[in-house]
Amino acid sequence: MEISVHWLFGRRVSYDWVDPCAAIESIEGDLMDADPSSRRFKRVLLCGDYHSGHHFGLTPPDWWEGQHGVLPRLAKIGKFQRALWGFATEAVKRLQPIDIVIVGGDAMDGKGERSGGVELRTTDRLEQGEMAATFINFIGAPQVRMVYGTRYHTGKDEDFEQAMIGHIKGNATIQGHGFFDINGCVIDDKHKVGGSTIPHGRMTALAKARLWNMLWSERKRQPKANIIARHHVHYHVFCGDGDWVAFTVPPLCYGTAFGIRECEGTVDIGMIKVDIFEDGRYRWNVILANFLEMEAPVESL
Ligand SMILES: [Fe+2]
Ligand SMILES: [Fe+2]
Repeated sequence: MEISVHWLFGRRVSYDWVDPCAAIESIEGDLMDADPSSRRFKRVLLCGDYHSGHHFGLTPPDWWEGQHGVLPRLAKIGKFQRALWGFATEAVKRLQPIDIVIVGGDAMDGKGERSGGVELRTTDRLEQGEMAATFINFIGAPQVRMVYGTRYHTGKDEDFEQAMIGHIKGNATIQGHGFFDINGCVIDDKHKVGGSTIPHGRMTALAKARLWNMLWSERKRQPKANIIARHHVHYHVFCGDGDWVAFTVPPLCYGTAFGIRECEGTVDIGMIKVDIFEDGRYRWNVILANFLEMEAPVESL
């Protein structure tokens, strides 16, 4: 079900609210431009924050918890893992072919030291990396660009996301801060950005990232970016003006004990696709999940 469509900076921006069991409804013809023969653009998929290894992180089928004949707590986890994997893989299938995937960090959840590892499917960061690589290989893009995530999750000393490279098919590289020129349109992607506890403050950190990019480009140390993408905060917002757009990429994970008990702000699940045409113009869409397992249970007394 589509929730809104509008033009932004002369480029069409549309929002699709994807139910893994429902069709992506199209507007003005084929929204997803699935027919590759008529495509005159490169398709970029931006995703990240899989937190694989966490019970509510992105979990491929080989690691799913059982749904039946197990403790209710484990059954709930198993149900969510299937819903999340179903959403992510269904969206990717409908976006094919994807030319480039940018994975924005926190591919794995890590050791979970602050909660004694009790929220984890596995504490083995190498195995968590294999889980995350399974999804990247499912995407199947010939070019895979990764940026490192938060060190608490991905390794305080060694970078365990680095170890994923060997498991990824296609041309894969990883770095701290990436600048990618695609048909003359520059994407500036890195993991961290400041979060905000107020809804209208969430865009400020993105606008600040844009200003820093301008100042770096004045010193000829960074290219001036057309698109600034950040991750880490687990919600989706965007801002911009006539010349640029900046957004936070939603994660592919959901509830943690920390988030539920200590945070109040809305979070999202999803990914962003950008089609960059031969002349550098681009069109971007966010694909957000909406499935029953995301609803807070209400107790009737
Ligand atoms: Fe994260
Ligand atoms: Fe992070």
